Amino acid sequence: MQLGQIKKGLQVVKRDKQSIGQAMRLAYYPVVAVRAEGSKVWDKDGNEYIDFLGGAAALPIGHRHPAVVRAIHEQTDRLIHHPPLYGYHELAVELAEKLNQLPPGVYPRKTIYQLAGAAAMDLTIKLVRVGTRRPKIITFLKGYYGALYGALSLSAFSTVQRRYLGPFLPEIYHVPFADCYRCFFKQQYPDCGLACLDYLKTVLRHLVPPEEVAAIITEPVGSDGGYIFPPAEWLKGLQEICQENDMLLALDEIQTGCGRCGSWFLSEQYGLIPDLVAFGKGFSAGVPLSGVIGRASVMDELKPPSAIGTGIANPIVCAVALAVMEVIQKENLIEQCKKMGSYLKKRFEEMKKDHPLIGDVRGKGMLIGVDLVKDQKTREPARLEASKVCWRSGELGLILTTLGESVLRVCPAYNLSQEEADRALGIIDNSLSDVEKGKIPDKVVASLSPW
Ligand SMILES: Cc1ncc(COP(=O)(O)O)c(C=O)c1O
Repeated sequence: MQLGQIKKGLQVVKRDKQSIGQAMRLAYYPVVAVRAEGSKVWDKDGNEYIDFLGGAAALPIGHRHPAVVRAIHEQTDRLIHHPPLYGYHELAVELAEKLNQLPPGVYPRKTIYQLAGAAAMDLTIKLVRVGTRRPKIITFLKGYYGALYGALSLSAFSTVQRRYLGPFLPEIYHVPFADCYRCFFKQQYPDCGLACLDYLKTVLRHLVPPEEVAAIITEPVGSDGGYIFPPAEWLKGLQEICQENDMLLALDEIQTGCGRCGSWFLSEQYGLIPDLVAFGKGFSAGVPLSGVIGRASVMDELKPPSAIGTGIANPIVCAVALAVMEVIQKENLIEQCKKMGSYLKKRFEEMKKDHPLIGDVRGKGMLIGVDLVKDQKTREPARLEASKVCWRSGELGLILTTLGESVLRVCPAYNLSQEEADRALGIIDNSLSDVEKGKIPDKVVASLSPW
């Protein structure tokens, strides 16, 4: 398929550029969606795509699951808006009761809702500060927490995203994440003895007094940084530092939560007991819902009205989230996610043998990254090539994007069918070959703005 076949779509893209500030965009192959179902999307020109982006990891049960559509219709007929900032509705309570059961560890919890992942991270900053009466926060290079000012103060992935926007929130200290494929210290795990953890301890010895640190805030997987899976030992090490120094451990599970890595929250698999867990994305199938589930004693320190917002915990959104959780349970989708995720990962590992572009394949469940490199030895990110692979995949009928510098992002719905999986894998295989053979000219991706 050639770009000429997305004629009507390109007219929309042109109007978009004229009418919408492009700062809200990461531009890849231009799919102008008009309809979607399950793992399929159709564009304005009638082209069909398999969706490997899954609404940016926000569609665990796919597009327009009948249970979600029903929940929206039924709730629309009853009550659309009654802001919990002034009143009550039972759906918000029922949802919080369920969410409070999900993170690992047995202790009393409460939930505070927000609208976007970034807002949940802003709230996390408030909670750790007020909950400890300490100002300082430790977080990590290559992390991404969202684009609001608080979340962006934590984020340290893209300098373009931060450029000219400072000053950011003070007292936030960034140290290296445990990125074992591109180690900050050019070492090899496990021989490194976790040099990154030692570095953090050095910072706490010489620069940042631990008794002034409210929390370590981290993602359990460096998500937008490139699906970077740290060793379990590193995460446990962070927890130990928190316990020894009365700091809180606050996890951003916005992308890894809702079963995506094979358990409701990934922290469970590492034996972590976080004090606060931020959630978003998957729990609400594309409608705006996020929040923080946390230790009741910490949540109660934030006094009303410190976390209010007109549209927060909207009844329709809560009804959707309850439907999503029910579908995942009834259809046993976390198991399916693990099974299909293992299959996809295995197929990518096999592809690595034929494609010099593939440097590394990382993943758990349906959160898989295929790291493209210019050279398998130097591991230099193949940025341009990754954009071209996404572009070619778009032409062949697959919505594919990157994260990190050159990592193909695979985060489809858990109920992706075998046929869809195989078709998508075939498209990626062909796209990699076409890019390796130099069939995609630089100019086709020149005007794009990937991560
Ligand atoms: C780990 C993580 N935290 C926070 C965010 C921000 O979420 P939102 O885009 O809903 O503000 C994202 C979004 O990609 C994310 O992946």
